[in-house]
Formats: sequence, C-alpha cells, structure tokens
Amino acid sequence: MRCCCNDRRVSLELEEGFCETKIIPAPPHANSHYQETSPFLKWAGGKRWLVEKHSHLLNIEHERYIEPFVGSGAVFFSLLPHSAILCDKNEKLIEVYEAIKSDWKKVADLLRVHHKNHSSEYYYQTRRKRLRTPETRAAQFIYLNRTCWNGLYRVNKKGEFNVPIGTKQNVVLSTDDFEKIALCLKNVELLSGDFEIALEKAGQGDFVFIDPPYTVKHNYNGFLKYNESIFSWEDQVRLRDAVELAVSRGAKVLVTNACHDSIKRLYENLGEISTLNRASIIAGKSSARGRYEEVVIKCY
Ligand SMILES: C[S@@+](CC[C@H](N)C(=O)[O-])C[C@H]1O[C@@H](n2cnc3c(N)ncnc32)[C@H](O)[C@@H]1O
Repeated sequence: MRCCCNDRRVSLELEEGFCETKIIPAPPHANSHYQETSPFLKWAGGKRWLVEKHSHLLNIEHERYIEPFVGSGAVFFSLLPHSAILCDKNEKLIEVYEAIKSDWKKVADLLRVHHKNHSSEYYYQTRRKRLRTPETRAAQFIYLNRTCWNGLYRVNKKGEFNVPIGTKQNVVLSTDDFEKIALCLKNVELLSGDFEIALEKAGQGDFVFIDPPYTVKHNYNGFLKYNESIFSWEDQVRLRDAVELAVSRGAKVLVTNACHDSIKRLYENLGEISTLNRASIIAGKSSARGRYEEVVIKCY
C-alpha cells in the first residue's frame, strides 16, 4: 500500500504477541500537523480501538469537528481537524489541554521532574498537593494518570483524586510530543462543562462525535463514575434530545454507546444503528478482560 507523508502507521494487535502494521491514510480534513498523533492520557472508555479498527466510520466530510465528551481525545487526535470544539465535564482535564496549549514547555519540564522523583511515597505526596498554577496542576494530572492504577480517574465526594498507585514506572514516554499537541490544539475551542454547551453550537458543516459514559436503563455498572456524579439514564435521554436538535440544524452526528436494548430503543428513529466488537481494556485482572459489544449510531 502506498503511504503519503501525512499518512499514519498503526500497529494492530491481532492476538497476543502478534502485530500487523497498517497504513491509515490522512483524513481529507486533517490539519497540516497531521502526523502520528495519539492521546497522551489513558482514559476509561478511550476510543483508540475505534480509530484503529473502524476508521472508515470517522471519515466524514466536515468544516468543524465537535466532541462534547472528549476524555483523552482519541478520535480528535486521529482526525486533527482544522477547527474544533472540545468539551468535557471534567474541568481538571480541560485545564490540562488549556495548559499545554498555552505553555507546553513548562508542562513537559514539570513532567520530567515528576519522572525523576517517582516513587510510592512521592506519588501519594503529589496526589495530596493542591497546586496553584494551571501548568503545575496539568503536570500533576498527567503524572497521576500515568502512574495510578490502570489510568483510572476517580474522585471522592470532595472532588479529590483518590486512585491508588499502579505498576507503571514511566512518567515521560518516548512518544511524548507536547509541542505537537499544542499545535493540534491551536484552533480548538475548549469548553469545560455539560455536553449541552457544546452540542447547542452544532449545525450545518459540523461533524459531532459523541462518546458518553455508558449508562443503560436500570443498570448502573461500575465504570460510570467518571466525575463526582453518575451519568444517569435521564442524562442519556437529555443527550438523545440534544442530538436530535443538532441533526435538525444540519449537523452530522456519530454516537457510540452500550449495546443494550434500552439504548437501541432510545435512538431507533434517529439514525442507523450498528454493533461493533471491542476488546475490553478496563478490567483490572487480565483474566476478566473479555470482548464486548458496543453500538454506533450514524445520524447523517
Ligand atoms: C467514555 S469517556 C470519553 C472517552 C473519549 N472518547 C476518549 O477517547 O478518551 C466519557 C467522558 O465524558 C465525560 N462526561 C461525563 N459526564 C459528562 C457530561 N454531562 N457532559 C460532558 N462530559 C461528561 C467524562 O468526564 C469522560 O471524560
């Protein structure tokens, strides 16, 4: 397969220990910084697998990209659109993107300090610290994300991060390129808050990728507590209504969600629903890792 300078090589794990390198063409709407960019955070529900295995679903013509539940931004970093709006209710996460955008060097320098000092004692000391500047808080966030248990984000009732230390030792990674991340964020409007503040901006010319926490009716599973509050079934209904409005204004919307009858019923008149398989990387014990199904709903 031919590969042009903007194309991207990804290693796809076929089964344990066996990889295949695949060339993914640069999306037609990618900006000039398009080049092997991937998320710098590990995030529950992260969509790297969707990018690697189902990139055709994301190849949608658009002038502006909107992602109301950005998390680690796996889809954003794979598309690298000219213009985008990224939103998340986790204000500390959005502050990380803002800090990298405004002073990536400072964040990278501080991360190197964390790398040098990392130990169990240092982890718990750093976890307790209330820092004063956006850059120190951003480096603290990335440090904890990379060294905590399974990259999980969980806070207590006071909003304090309370995930125990994990087994990873590397804080600075060979793949880190915060300068490139800052360039990718240059034309991005960052919003911290509920998904509605991003979705209400969507209209003609926009591609909206929606990846909410996966709540299903009458079933609160263990992975839904991303922030202080759970994403309830009422939130799922409110989201569907906001998607419907965005579609009526001319936006193209792609939704991912749990493969569950309640979700399929919720979206049955709004788009084309298909089922996808994904390998679970959330479960802590490798024996508990299985294959799960999710749905994508194409509303365009
Ligand atoms: C499944 S994760 C998104 C993962 C992302 N696609 C990725 O690749 O990393 C869902 C995200 O929704 C955010 N979230 C939860 N409730 C929200 C709300 N009401 N409005 C906006 N974001 C919300 C969480 O903080 C979390 O980052």
